[in-house]
Amino acid sequence: MRLAILGGSFNPVHIGHLFLADAVLTAFGYDRIILIPAFKSPFKQGASGGSPLDRLDMLAAAIPGDPRLGIDDCEIKREGVSYTIDTIADITRRYRPEGKPGLILGDDLAREFPKWKSADEIAEQADVIIARRLLSGDGVYPYPNRQLQNEVMEVSSALVRERIGEGKNWRCLVPLGTRTIIEDRRLYGLPATEGDCGEKPAGAGGGKAAITQALIVEMEEAARGKLNSARFHHSRNTALLAADLCRHFGLESKAGYLAGIIHDMGKPLGEEELLHLAKADGGEISKLERKKPGLLHGRAGAVMLKERYGIRSQEVLDAVKYHTTGNAAMGPLAKVLYIADKIEVSRERIDPALRNFSAHEGTEQGLDRLFGTVLNETVAWLRSREMDISEGTLRLLELIEKRGLRRGTSAYSLGGGYR
Ligand SMILES: [Fe+2]
Ligand SMILES: [Fe+2]
Repeated sequence: MRLAILGGSFNPVHIGHLFLADAVLTAFGYDRIILIPAFKSPFKQGASGGSPLDRLDMLAAAIPGDPRLGIDDCEIKREGVSYTIDTIADITRRYRPEGKPGLILGDDLAREFPKWKSADEIAEQADVIIARRLLSGDGVYPYPNRQLQNEVMEVSSALVRERIGEGKNWRCLVPLGTRTIIEDRRLYGLPATEGDCGEKPAGAGGGKAAITQALIVEMEEAARGKLNSARFHHSRNTALLAADLCRHFGLESKAGYLAGIIHDMGKPLGEEELLHLAKADGGEISKLERKKPGLLHGRAGAVMLKERYGIRSQEVLDAVKYHTTGNAAMGPLAKVLYIADKIEVSRERIDPALRNFSAHEGTEQGLDRLFGTVLNETVAWLRSREMDISEGTLRLLELIEKRGLRRGTSAYSLGGGYR
């Protein structure tokens, strides 16, 4: 296998790094490029921000599913200042590449190269590739080399860090996985956002109890893989609206988004599995649920999300559980999800005025009032179609009516199709 090495601080890795690696692969026919994050770079000491572990994690998150790129942590394990000659020797010994490994150097470093430790030896043991970098140097590289005629993206790690620090837009300069780590660990001085739960996940793998951006991205991928296109888009619209509703009613918006994106993951399950999973939540299976097991996709989905996907947030699981028929035990997040599921923007048959949720004051009572209206409209729609209504829904409606939280007349008709 023909290998090339691309070292750097990767603090953080950005699209310019990946664009360069891609250019080398295309131009010189290597099979793989090994990305090697420095523990500490001899020329860039004092760069603030990501720890070696953060930088390694951000690299791993940047290149999922790409067999053309590898990551080697030899310099991080070695600690201290690493010298290129030691890294080349280590990589050659362990990987046994076909021919000499390529060594990609930015032309900004060319002038300094003769001062590097064992510069002659490096030039002998690797095929040096000189690539154009953002800040090109004026030096001439005094050893045999190949010049890469690459286009330069005007991105650098320093620029990304700077933009984060200054509150400018930066998110599309790094791959999505990298962005989620920066957000979850609040690297480079990124301030907490309104939607954060206020809990900073500890380093690598914050677990699934905290609703991190990484968990949301992971579950969104899972939902996209499991649901058909129409249902996925309904789920994403539900997620966006649930997050907006949470923000308005003083709840954690990430919890709303997560609940929305996963709420219908029980939908594709077969009847037998729906019944089997729903039984595991300890509740009774009603006559109606037995007749129409599809109604169990909320209950079954919640069990599945806990057992198979490790979702720990009880309020998110409860929201998923109750979104289909509603339940008197619903908490604020469950009400938000119920509303979002019924009135999101792809629901054709509802009066768009229902989406004007900011007309309701951002309090628990405001949320209850909106919930009562949406529940009432849902029941009216089911009745108009002579569809069965679950006892749980009717009990809930009664409760809402007693508390005077529903609107008097039914002016809207709620569309079905995606319960
Ligand atoms: Fe549903
Ligand atoms: Fe839904």
